[in-house]
Amino acid sequence: NKNLTILSIESSCDDTACALVRYDGTVLAEQIYSQKEHIQFGGVVPEIAARAHLSHLSALVQKTLAQAQIDWKEIDAIAATCGPGLIGGVIVGSSFAKGLALAQNLPFIGINHIEAHALTVRIPNISPLQVNFPYLLFLTSGGHCQCINVTNIGEYQRLGGTIDDAAGEAFDKVAKMLGLSWPGGPALEALAKEGDENMFTLPRPLYGRPGCDFSFSGLKTAVANLLTDYETTDVLPRQFAADVAASFQKAITTAIINRLENAIKLAPNSTLLATAGGVAANQYLRKHLLALAEKYNLPFIAPPMKYCTDNAVMIGWAAIEILHQASKHHKLMNDISMLPR
Ligand code: KG4
Ligand code: ZN
Repeated sequence: NKNLTILSIESSCDDTACALVRYDGTVLAEQIYSQKEHIQFGGVVPEIAARAHLSHLSALVQKTLAQAQIDWKEIDAIAATCGPGLIGGVIVGSSFAKGLALAQNLPFIGINHIEAHALTVRIPNISPLQVNFPYLLFLTSGGHCQCINVTNIGEYQRLGGTIDDAAGEAFDKVAKMLGLSWPGGPALEALAKEGDENMFTLPRPLYGRPGCDFSFSGLKTAVANLLTDYETTDVLPRQFAADVAASFQKAITTAIINRLENAIKLAPNSTLLATAGGVAANQYLRKHLLALAEKYNLPFIAPPMKYCTDNAVMIGWAAIEILHQASKHHKLMNDISMLPR
């Protein structure tokens, strides 16, 4: 059914999002509210996130429907993130979606948030290339940091992941030490442009070791040690802070690239290297990811920023991919009403 249309909801962290996505990848409408409620706390507060999803979701869904000027009759199923994520938000979004499904007599499809990130590069209208299996995905955000060999829909080989902090968390914590405001990643990248990346030699955790796991907490501690001459309340000299930022960005990128080089060797059939997650916004990291891909003759894809970070379009698209895959086995596509509610 080429007109198959999914209403999707994402609520696993601090973005409340809703979208209407069609079988061919057309985004009929999308709305997102990036919660401002956390700024004063310098990080996402899970309970506040859950409450904010609850207060914004209903209006957001209505806005999405209005934007697409669509009638419920044209919607075939409702999808929502069912995990992993902050449990309060996941419960709000998935319960809301199930309620809607019940009220509209539509099937409900629960989606794994990581799977949705992994399949984003396959959305036809968003990706510059047709992405076939298998491919490598480096997923890097405040909450997750892992490298996945995507071999098919529903078949994901986790080649490695962080053994302590996620990369975004390391960016955010170092940024905080440098006195930058949350979320620290973008602020740190901007400051690093003014600094000398060779001023300080910082550890590159796990560099040269086999496998594709990541570790960033030692790097964070090394930065903290550089700052011991200063009180936490001191304003750091600007040039010093910029040099630390640049040296940190170089160290974390060098470590990541080394781990991903191992991943490419572990998955030699990969057709391309893709990235997603908030940290993928970092231009310095992107430049080095591109160079790594070129070294192995692989195309490199980073989706546009709004689809790198949490969004509902990827949730709707994952539902479409899963239905399509199921239809190959069960002809479900022609009878979507067979799906469990
Ligand atoms: O995917 P995302 O929006 O939310 C989740 O964590 O799921 O990622 C947010 C993370 C934050 O840690 C933020 O500091 C980081 O991505 N980030 C960056 C940049 N932009 C966002 N890190 C480094 N450089 C950036 N330009
Ligand atoms: Zn995410």
